[in-house]
Amino acid sequence: MMVHQPESAATLVALQSVSQCYPGRQGMVKVLDGVSLSVCQGDFIAITGESGSGKSTLLNIIGLLMPPSSGVVSYQGRPVSFGRGAEMAQRAAGRPIGFVFQQFNLIPSLSVLDNVALPLLYQGLAPAVRAAQSLAVLETLGIADKAGQRPDDLSGGQKQRVAIARALVAQPALMIADEPTGSLDPRHADEVMTLLCELNQAGMALVMVTHDLALAARAKSRWRIAAGRIVHD
Ligand SMILES: Nc1ncnc2c1ncn2[C@@H]1O[C@H](COP(=O)(O)OP(=O)(O)O)[C@@H](O)[C@H]1O
Ligand SMILES: [Mg+2]
Repeated sequence: MMVHQPESAATLVALQSVSQCYPGRQGMVKVLDGVSLSVCQGDFIAITGESGSGKSTLLNIIGLLMPPSSGVVSYQGRPVSFGRGAEMAQRAAGRPIGFVFQQFNLIPSLSVLDNVALPLLYQGLAPAVRAAQSLAVLETLGIADKAGQRPDDLSGGQKQRVAIARALVAQPALMIADEPTGSLDPRHADEVMTLLCELNQAGMALVMVTHDLALAARAKSRWRIAAGRIVHD
């Protein structure tokens, strides 16, 4: 069944006929083949598909991290220009997009607090402001007591919570999560999933890739990639 967005839901990212090719052994391989998809405020989209089907590629394009080989990517109704690099495309879009990955991608030599504060460093905020904002997010996520520790001192579930805090600190309208529970045991996976659902209920749009159909079932809409195409489940 198609789920129609209410008229008032503002479109954040829209992909129109997006294709992505990579060089393969026997010429170019089309990983995405004419994919169209909109991400609106309040959406919670789960994307499934076999390994190598193009899920991460699609997330990178939705997250404005890379231009597609062809097709149009729009942010809030305006076509995105990738000419000056992906980071510029994100910044030009006005609001940052938060990312969470399977392997957490925390920096081991930095404290939890400094990991969370990194996106604010790039915004040029003063150290005291960065620390205060980061601590506030850690408090919201219930891990403020870990602020001074290193990522390696934490459990997988706690590490992912820190990575989510880092994605949240710049107050993104959209969070992109690439198999966020892929490295976690079932209990921690469930905790992280519950946190992501709560953030979505608080208004943050969420696009999540997962292998776990039970987790995908908790999204508001589900899509599957197969043979370069995206189909609504
Ligand atoms: N930068 C790249 N260069 C060449 N091939 C790539 C690149 N990124 C991904 N691919 C290939 O594209 C296909 C889809 O990759 P990916 O989007 O990572 O899939 P998934 O996340 O579903 O496992 C794979 O065959 C992968 O090897
Ligand atoms: Mg992937």
